Amino acid sequence: MGAQVIAIVNQKGGAGKTTTAINLSAVLAESRARVLLIDADPQHTASDWSAMREKAPPFVLIALPQPILHRDIPKLAADYDFVVIDGPPRNYEVTRSAIAAADLVIIPVQPSGADFWASRETVKLVQEAHAFKDTQKSVFVVTRKKGQTALGRDIREALTTFDLPLLRTDIPDRIAYAEAITNGKTIIESQPRGPGAKDFRALLAEIQELAA
Ligand SMILES: Nc1ncnc2c1ncn2[C@@H]1O[C@H](COP(=O)(O)OP(=O)(O)OP(=O)(O)O)[C@@H](O)[C@H]1O
Ligand SMILES: [Mg+2]
Repeated sequence: MGAQVIAIVNQKGGAGKTTTAINLSAVLAESRARVLLIDADPQHTASDWSAMREKAPPFVLIALPQPILHRDIPKLAADYDFVVIDGPPRNYEVTRSAIAAADLVIIPVQPSGADFWASRETVKLVQEAHAFKDTQKSVFVVTRKKGQTALGRDIREALTTFDLPLLRTDIPDRIAYAEAITNGKTIIESQPRGPGAKDFRALLAEIQELAA
């Protein structure tokens, strides 16, 4: 079986794409999978993160911020179990290419009206892709959830109006995520037994259920 391609996309800036892509890649690597992370953002945040590290990340990272992902990924994926794509903000062509390449599309959304409204465009792209690739799955994940707030509940309810499932696992707002990225680490490296590592292990378990 070939690599499973997971695209993390939302054209809304700051939705939590890079945080999700790096830490999901880290928990996949922890489970002994061979992981390729593709930085598809022209701002190259994931590549900058990697460049400041003292040692290589537990996965391979390449930058490919171009709308040729769907064409090149089958070749690039040959030696991997998973390919994770960190999508760009405000870039229709690259986002569409990442979605076209994916077996699973994850759309991170923060609990706010602005983030919900701005996700519509990406949902439309995903639904268009389904018409061509009916084996593709796509899900929302709520990111930066702040405790048990009304906003957190509202976003879950609002997202059900789209015809896409929502993961049970939320990614809470934790300073540890921002600190880990700032220090060139994954959440597994910075706090292996901390709550952030648990969040991403739970996210991975849920993704594995979807694939089963
Ligand atoms: N769960 C979280 N808890 C706390 N801070 C977070 C969380 N997720 C993301 N952040 C912070 O929010 C900011 C945006 O997150 P991130 O870079 O992951 O989003 P993005 O969707 O990749 O952004 P862009 O659209 O610019 O690529 C960063 O400063 C990051 O550290
Ligand atoms: Mg990013």
